[in-house]
Amino acid sequence: MIRRMVTNPIPQFPAGFLWGVSTSAHQIEGAAGEREPSVWDAFTAEPGRVKDGSTAAVACDSYHRYREDVALLAGLGVDAYRFSISWPRVNSPGGLDYYDRLVDELCGAGVRPVPTLFHWDLPASLDWLERDTASRFAEYVSVVAERLGDRVTKWITLNEPAEHTLLGHALGAHAPGRRLMFGALPVAHHQLLAHGLAVRALRAAGAADIGIANSHGPTWPASRSPEDVDAAEFYDVLLNRLFSDPLLLGHYPEGIGALLPGDVEADLKVIAEPVDWYGINYYAPVKVGAPQGTEIEFGGLTLPAGLPFSVREIEGHPVTDFGWPVVPEALTELLTGFRERYGDRLPPIVITENGCSYEGVDDQERIAYLDGHIRALHRAVEAGVDVRGYFVWSLLDNFEWAEGYAQRFGLVHVDFEDGALARTPKVSYAWLRDALRARR
Ligand code: BGC
Repeated sequence: MIRRMVTNPIPQFPAGFLWGVSTSAHQIEGAAGEREPSVWDAFTAEPGRVKDGSTAAVACDSYHRYREDVALLAGLGVDAYRFSISWPRVNSPGGLDYYDRLVDELCGAGVRPVPTLFHWDLPASLDWLERDTASRFAEYVSVVAERLGDRVTKWITLNEPAEHTLLGHALGAHAPGRRLMFGALPVAHHQLLAHGLAVRALRAAGAADIGIANSHGPTWPASRSPEDVDAAEFYDVLLNRLFSDPLLLGHYPEGIGALLPGDVEADLKVIAEPVDWYGINYYAPVKVGAPQGTEIEFGGLTLPAGLPFSVREIEGHPVTDFGWPVVPEALTELLTGFRERYGDRLPPIVITENGCSYEGVDDQERIAYLDGHIRALHRAVEAGVDVRGYFVWSLLDNFEWAEGYAQRFGLVHVDFEDGALARTPKVSYAWLRDALRARR
């Protein structure tokens, strides 16, 4: 008998508020043999890269089971589904046909398709250190928009260029596994350029309602000492403002532009191409202090010694299975802070990811996490922040990158031990379904 946690209904959000769930292609699709390889296939093939030694060759096999997954979305009663389109699949024969079928299935089920055009699975033949990759991205985006634009009415260019730069190219914890440290900065610039070029390509194809999914979280200084405050400021510039300032203000944070390749001033005009909304992926705040001269364990990562900051433990809050602190009020802080910083330049916000990893089907902790964050989001709306939607990460337990299948973020449990990859809705799925129904 499954216990159902009783909570008050979720608060009322403005009319037209979009409720959804998110996934990404590499994490759920599988069918790796039916597309060209991505940097992630190469990375996971190297021993020791993924903690449990797994790959996403099969993952949730959503490529073949998408009808079942769309039925789960319809049963949940969400307005929208954020999935990602795999560039390597689009490059492969029949690849776009898959997204055509998926979009049709979603529209038929009354769920609005919201594709992300890049969620880290770069074709293995390409490299974000090369400027040309940005132009190639825009070409691919035009092809997708041409094919799906008659049914897709909301688009996301990139997912978390910050993590892809940091984890993939600076620290080597994600594909393509480079450890360039600050030498990874061109990767950030080229992705942002790709975003701007994609916005232009989408508009040229007649698309509207375009955004990005950037990851952000408040950075808390470990103390008021100038050393800690400076280190936190540096971290905030590198992980937050480097990715939002150029889009929303048209310039890089002070000192950064000079470190980037190419005609940065001219590129900034492309990068700042107006978006219709700004997507934020929020998980947790970070506490940062002065460097301590040692390696640091942080959220499943080992950060090398020698960085100009150190990440400290946030105490006094529950943590998820990943060890990430659960701090809903930091979401309110983040959003009101964004409004203060960007003022009239800030378009409406959509929370494009928020969620947590917990084992088990009776996932009361996930309910508490989502409930707390939805209320924190509502407080930001009450404080005057224009928020238009909220997407839970994730519909399904899936391939959690370098963690393999160990961290489970789904509202639906997937049995990866079972060849049938059985899907079992968790208690949080029923909670969200009921909450969405009550709202109607
Ligand atoms: C990414 C997802 C990932 C999630 C949980 C986000 O950074 O966009 O792909 O699964 O966080 O780690």
